[in-house]
Amino acid sequence: MNFYLFFIHPQLKDLLLEELKRRHSKLSLSFSNKEFLSMKGPEGYEVHLEKNPLVFAKRMGIFLDKSADPGEYAVRVKEGEYWNYELIRTPCDTYDIVESPKPEGAPARAWHKIDEACKHFEWKIKAGEIVIEIGSAPGGISYYLLDKGAELYAVDPAKMDPSLKGFKHIQRSIFDVDRRDLPTHCDWLISDLNLSGDLNVVQCARIAAYYSKLKGGFLTIKTPQDFDVKHMKKWAKSFENFETTLFHLPSHRREIGLFFRNTALSN
Ligand SMILES: C[S@@+](CC[C@H](N)C(=O)[O-])C[C@H]1O[C@@H](n2cnc3c(N)ncnc32)[C@H](O)[C@@H]1O
Repeated sequence: MNFYLFFIHPQLKDLLLEELKRRHSKLSLSFSNKEFLSMKGPEGYEVHLEKNPLVFAKRMGIFLDKSADPGEYAVRVKEGEYWNYELIRTPCDTYDIVESPKPEGAPARAWHKIDEACKHFEWKIKAGEIVIEIGSAPGGISYYLLDKGAELYAVDPAKMDPSLKGFKHIQRSIFDVDRRDLPTHCDWLISDLNLSGDLNVVQCARIAAYYSKLKGGFLTIKTPQDFDVKHMKKWAKSFENFETTLFHLPSHRREIGLFFRNTALSN
């Protein structure tokens, strides 16, 4: 038997427990506090955790031992007691991401989402690249994209912040937008819609299918209820021709990120 540690995002313990139950039912709870869960399971189970990482765990590890001083990877459990662990490395590990200060001109905190996603995936949006952003108002993410010099098509029926200039605002619902409204080429597709996960993903997959040379994209998907956990695999499969990762960023609340990339076309 081994013990596997799962570090919790604040306020998302219910979603992590649901994900464990659905995807790793061989593990059983042995200890928890506000920072992490310890789950008992078979030796060697880390192979399955690497293959099917937990989106709602900001880090996973294999428990090694307890000590008075911390080892390389350790969590303090009480005064003078650290639990040391071996790191399980996966793209869902967002433990070390630290929030950068938001530029004064960025009109919404969503700026952090794209900033963190770009850092985490070493994703560089280059000047002149064409980006379609769905659910763009008031423009936190748009600010980031325009600052990088992207050619931006922002889709949202709501008003964009008037300080943002130099982009095309398609002021309509995504349901009413078709190919004729959009550019002939697109490099990246971004969505931060406050719609249900299914509607968001279906609309983004529809738009992505217009572009055979699409490099990839980034979606934030709402997961307000524990039953949304069961749809996550299906959402990832909607971008089949791409390498796809689901994850949770510190700037996310009850939502997840989906990053997809055509590695042959992108950096
Ligand atoms: C979380 S906010 C987006 C914040 C924005 N990304 C930013 O960086 O400032 C969600 C947005 O989705 C937009 N939205 C909701 N339904 C939509 C639809 N059917 N089509 C396009 N946008 C929609 C809302 O108007 C809202 O502005």
